[in-house]
Amino acid sequence: MRILDILNNGEIGSRVVVKGWVRTKRGNKTVAFIALNDGSTINNIQIVADAEQFDEPLKRISTGACLCVEGELVESLGSGQRVEVQARKIDIYGTSPEDYPLQKKGHTLEFLREIAYLRPRTNTFGAVFRIRHAMAFAIHKYFNDKGFYYWHTPLITASDAEGAGAMFQVTTLDMENPPKADGKIDYSQDFFGRSSNLTVSGQLEGELGALALGQIYTFGPTFRAENSNTPRHLAEFWMIEPEMAFYELEDDMALAEDFLKYLIQYALDNCSDDLEFLEKMYDAELRERLRFVVENKFQVLEYTAAIEILQASGQKFEYPCTWGADLQSEHERYLVEKHFNNPVILTDYPKEIKAFYMKQNADGKTVRAMDVLFPAIGEIIGGSQREENYEKLAKRISEMGINTSDMWWYMETRKFGSAPHSGFGLGFERLLLFVTGMSNIRDVIPFPRYPQNAEF
Ligand code: 4AD
Ligand code: MG
Repeated sequence: MRILDILNNGEIGSRVVVKGWVRTKRGNKTVAFIALNDGSTINNIQIVADAEQFDEPLKRISTGACLCVEGELVESLGSGQRVEVQARKIDIYGTSPEDYPLQKKGHTLEFLREIAYLRPRTNTFGAVFRIRHAMAFAIHKYFNDKGFYYWHTPLITASDAEGAGAMFQVTTLDMENPPKADGKIDYSQDFFGRSSNLTVSGQLEGELGALALGQIYTFGPTFRAENSNTPRHLAEFWMIEPEMAFYELEDDMALAEDFLKYLIQYALDNCSDDLEFLEKMYDAELRERLRFVVENKFQVLEYTAAIEILQASGQKFEYPCTWGADLQSEHERYLVEKHFNNPVILTDYPKEIKAFYMKQNADGKTVRAMDVLFPAIGEIIGGSQREENYEKLAKRISEMGINTSDMWWYMETRKFGSAPHSGFGLGFERLLLFVTGMSNIRDVIPFPRYPQNAEF
């Protein structure tokens, strides 16, 4: 029986069996109180045990131990819950000696990151990971209800979808002694007969799906070997990438806004206990901010207009902001948090700072890109309308020095029944940063991967 169900619906007087981990034990000579948690809810159930009857097991029970308790559900007078369990039988599945790292006192998030194998047992990470599950479920529900198909794209690829180059190589060659041809490593002898890597995005294969099934989405792990030690970057993160035939940029933006609002509303409706806890512990304005985003229309403006605003702001930025430069997080956050005080969608970026596949505007300088910028996060979504014209795409690919022999299959879709289409990518952990109010992306994924860390 899950503690969540017992706390909500358990009948007074009924026999219950609960299994979970001890958060605290206290008491006196006659009675002991054990707070037990099984991960189904932020709330513990209180076990009341006769100190004499359970003298022997109580001696061996301490914080972190795992128990099976059989007893009677009774009305609770003091535990802050509706009900508690009067113990009749206690089995100890596993004791937890004094060196258990999660003793009662509060721990820093940095310390808990070092013991990521145990941190799911804390209130904070229990809350975060239950919300993570709820958001994953809501993502599938949203797209399924809208008639999108879940489309699986490969994790191992031979192409560089974003043209950014920060990829992890995949190989079975002997690194000590790789086969050589003409002084270079001979990848024809590698597992796939060519050099391959972990994907930085499922988009290119996502487009193939959209140009057949109409509307698809991907939701899977994504890998980037950027050496970014920031609170917003992971080397392994999860991305959701919808791709839609017959969508233009305006449709793409409307979907992105609707999608984000749906997910945030879903969290407000379904994760209230966990949000309340996180609000109390870390971020007093958490739900207020979530509601604000749901209730207000996103501000849409072009990159060029944003540059003008930033230049006129009189604000001192660490990085310069001139037309043509990529916006830094400080610029994005100025627009969102100071100037508009609202989520912002920026469109029509200079083509030099965006990927090769974006639809080119008639001005020859900008592309039909859109980034969704959020308070406290900066970029949460990146997307675009795609270039569907074969010649324009081919020209851009060669201008950017991209290897066309890796891209031939992608190009062919522009030859056979090409169609206007658009899509975007939502960083799952960036969404979770926003929804949970946590401030470091390493704290919203169970086992974070970042430079110098692949432990657990
Ligand atoms: O802007 P990005 O690079 O766009 C793409 O990959 C496109 N293929 C998406 C598409 O149009 N289908 O990445 C999309 C989002 C970013 O806005 C950000 O939220 C997240 O992915 N992201 C990261 N999240 C965590 N760690 C990283 N290193 C990330 N890099 C990008
Ligand atoms: Mg981007």
